Amino acid sequence: MASGRGGEAVAGSPINVAVPLASTYHADGARSYGREGNAVWDALEEVLGALEGGRGLVFASGLAAIAAVLETLPVGAVVVAPEDAYLGTRGLLADLASRDRLRVRLVDIADTPATLAACDGADLLWCESPTNPMMAIADLGALCGGARALGVPVVVDNTFATPLLQRPLELGADVVVHSVTKFLAGHSDLVMGATVTADPDRWEALRQHRSLHGAVAGPLEAFLALRGVRTLPVRLDRAQANAAELARRLAAHPGVSRVRYPGQADHPGHDLAARQMDGFGAMLSFEVHGGAPVADAVCGAVRLCVHATSLGGVETLLERRHRWEGEEATPPGLVRVSVGIEDVEDLWSDLEAALGVAAGLG
Ligand SMILES: Cc1ncc(COP(=O)(O)O)c(C=O)c1O
Repeated sequence: MASGRGGEAVAGSPINVAVPLASTYHADGARSYGREGNAVWDALEEVLGALEGGRGLVFASGLAAIAAVLETLPVGAVVVAPEDAYLGTRGLLADLASRDRLRVRLVDIADTPATLAACDGADLLWCESPTNPMMAIADLGALCGGARALGVPVVVDNTFATPLLQRPLELGADVVVHSVTKFLAGHSDLVMGATVTADPDRWEALRQHRSLHGAVAGPLEAFLALRGVRTLPVRLDRAQANAAELARRLAAHPGVSRVRYPGQADHPGHDLAARQMDGFGAMLSFEVHGGAPVADAVCGAVRLCVHATSLGGVETLLERRHRWEGEEATPPGLVRVSVGIEDVEDLWSDLEAALGVAAGLG
């Protein structure tokens, strides 16, 4: 069992792994230079690997982990990816495609037959489930099985679900990527990413890429992330219970036209998510009557929830995603909510009041 403590218990030694604030090490030892690794990465990688069922590698950010996976593909490789994948993933894919580095086929990842049809002749299937921010659910088992039959490796961005709710490697994926920044670290105080794979060759290719391209995490950030992961189960339990309750109440609110939360029985991916996940998570999106101005007014009127981008922290964050360049396909009135661990009645009072203020303006 991975303790994340970075070594054997020795009487009188600290129970936490020591943070090596060192770029270099005395010569001729097990370690030589900070870009190659350190004891805190080892401990965090051990924990992430154990949670996902593979071997972990930490990167400077989630996007650095995503870039490492994409950059280890050959030039001209064909990548099948969700049309509503995380904005940064789509941006990176578009950038690589614009320089003929990769070719990209965008699909509706919830449509398994169409996605597998697009995998014919492809070199990689990129999955995200639930997707950010549309909350679509991909059938990861069916996609991994179908892609494997076509000889196409599968990568899953598991940031929204976390390994506590979904373990893609068990479902047949080859690599899992994470924005550790989000739920794993959990306190909105650092930026970090990770890959996990059970394939030793892929692990070594990604490790080499990290060393050569230098997208490395700081040891202090890794220590904070390790501390965050220790409370992930309790944070997630609370946040996901809050999310389920807020989704239920938002769905019944007259100012709300649609709620996207896989735990809601009317979500198109509800049954699949119930089979595939060990919980529906702490992310939800909702749309308001009146579109963008009303959604902006909701975001401007909250007092407890925080109007900010990002997700996965202990505090509830919300934002209208369409405001970002590249989110044109997201409904203009869609508000994404990363539900935190506050008292659910306080959260609902805040949201209900903000919806009331917004309805008055709309
Ligand atoms: C699903 C998902 N994957 C990856 C990332 C990128 O992670 P980072 O911001 O740590 O680079 C994000 C960031 O929002 C995300 O939401």
